[in-house]
Amino acid sequence: MTRIISPSMLSADFGNLERDTKMIDSSAAEWVHIDVMDGVFVPNISFGFPVMKPIRKATQKVLDVHLMIVEPEKYVKRFVEAGADYVTFHYEATDDIDGCINAIREAGAKVGISIKPGTPTSVLKDILNKVDMVLIMSVEPGFGGQSFIDGSLDKIRSLAAMREEQGLEFIIEVDGGISASNAGEVFAAGAEALVAGSAVFGAADPQAEIVKMLEA
Ligand code: DX5
Ligand code: ZN
Repeated sequence: MTRIISPSMLSADFGNLERDTKMIDSSAAEWVHIDVMDGVFVPNISFGFPVMKPIRKATQKVLDVHLMIVEPEKYVKRFVEAGADYVTFHYEATDDIDGCINAIREAGAKVGISIKPGTPTSVLKDILNKVDMVLIMSVEPGFGGQSFIDGSLDKIRSLAAMREEQGLEFIIEVDGGISASNAGEVFAAGAEALVAGSAVFGAADPQAEIVKMLEA
């Protein structure tokens, strides 16, 4: 089974973004997670295109961009131009799911769709065959450093069952409150990619922490 760690740059030191990105670049993490927040979809503002630039320059790894913004269809093309390999938008953030999916594909990136903790997996039933990834939020989006919501494990299992039933191959990613102490059960529930911010950048040895999560 595939196991991917996607460290969230939201928890990096923005004064040393190049250093922190290179540290991830030489780690066992295969992806780099980039959290974009607009202060409307979530009650926090993070960063946008200019901050993606130094990150893209400092690593060849897969850039996994998580858009927590309203009307994502307006901006997805620019995120792909800025170097995104995966662009994930929120189911709750747009009235034009198909338009958003098509805009990401046409721009040349892989498509992810995300649901908040209160949104059931069932809403995705007829969308799953159009995406490359589904991101289950295991905290309320907006901030790093929150605790994993235990009910997320059942959502991962139900999504994995839907994938099996429909004979699909999209990746299941999980984001929020992940650490070496719960990574094992989250992988076991059916996820392939785990986002981790504070657990990686708050560790004394971030690269060793990533290996611990992969081996959890
Ligand atoms: C929260 C973000 C997460 C966040 C995860 O809205 O989507 O990616 O950085 O942080 P931790 O791992 O600290 O929960
Ligand atoms: Zn995220």
